[in-house]
Amino acid sequence: MIYKVAIIGYGYWGPKLARNIQNSNEFQIDYIVDTSKKNLINAKKSFPLSRFLNDYKKLDTSKIDLVVISTPTITHYKLAAHFLKYSNILIEKPLALNNHDVKKLERISKKSKNKLFVDYPFIFSGSIRLINNIIRKKKYGKLLEIESFREQAPIRKDSDVVWDLGVHDISILRFLLKSNPIKIKSIKYNTVKTKQKDTAYINLNYKNNIKVFIKNSWISPVKIRIMKFKFEKGIVICDENEPIYKLKVFTRKNNKTMIYKLELPEIDLSEPLFNLIEYVAKSMKTNSNLIFKKNFNIDITRVLEKI
Ligand SMILES: NC(=O)c1ccc[n+]([C@@H]2O[C@H](COP(=O)([O-])OP(=O)(O)OC[C@H]3O[C@@H](n4cnc5c(N)ncnc54)[C@H](O)[C@@H]3O)[C@@H](O)[C@H]2O)c1
Repeated sequence: MIYKVAIIGYGYWGPKLARNIQNSNEFQIDYIVDTSKKNLINAKKSFPLSRFLNDYKKLDTSKIDLVVISTPTITHYKLAAHFLKYSNILIEKPLALNNHDVKKLERISKKSKNKLFVDYPFIFSGSIRLINNIIRKKKYGKLLEIESFREQAPIRKDSDVVWDLGVHDISILRFLLKSNPIKIKSIKYNTVKTKQKDTAYINLNYKNNIKVFIKNSWISPVKIRIMKFKFEKGIVICDENEPIYKLKVFTRKNNKTMIYKLELPEIDLSEPLFNLIEYVAKSMKTNSNLIFKKNFNIDITRVLEKI
């Protein structure tokens, strides 16, 4: 069976979702909806066989299996609440701007039996999947500390840097550590005159005394996506901007020397968005949703609210 898809929002991120959906054998894009005429013209060039609408209310959901929402964050709750009643949805991060709305969406999903998928792309990346294995197998001993540096992204007017960029860190941490932090301390501020806070320093303490430091900032001339995982017997550095060697593992022979041995593990380099799309197809086929179960979205939003 080929699932029929409608994409709502074809701005910056929508075309990336559309390309990955098109590349999958499991889906076909039947509709693209956008309020912008210019963006609909762009969409038509890449997807001439799809149908185009300028108002999401005109979409007939009876023949749609999956609605993909990539509109500005402020519109997420309204659109998700509307479409979840009729269809499975895949929606951009952050799911909504408060936990009250996220809980309502989870209730609608449960009642309608339609699945709710959120695009937290990094939890589908080969590097984070390998780090997950390293943690589970205690390959370099106990995990002690994580540092994350995520800088430079388009400045948003409807959400601050933590809801926009920090959501990646919080979703990765929820995926890897399977819990929420016990203690949260943070400072958020503006370094330039943006409507929303553009910079944040965050300290989190997780169970087993795992300490986390996160720096998020929209304001940076260089794009940084680096996470460091410090274990008893080694340090794993993950740089999502690296094309091939995204993971570097530094191990010490013994505690006396500060000289490290470097390993470059082989990782799955397929595009995280494509892995997410394949996960969505598999979940729809098998009527499951293994990642987004057990309060996954509610937990993430709770931490974002506290920060
Ligand atoms: N997962 C990621 O890594 C990632 C990366 C970038 C953006 N995003 C998320 O994707 C979402 C969109 O971001 P963007 O950068 O593409 O924004 P954008 O402004 O470039 O695109 C949004 C599009 O939605 C359209 N739109 C707005 N309201 C609409 C409505 N009611 N109905 C139909 N279309 C409507 C706009 O015309 C525009 O074309 C945001 O929530 C953002 O956080 C996620």
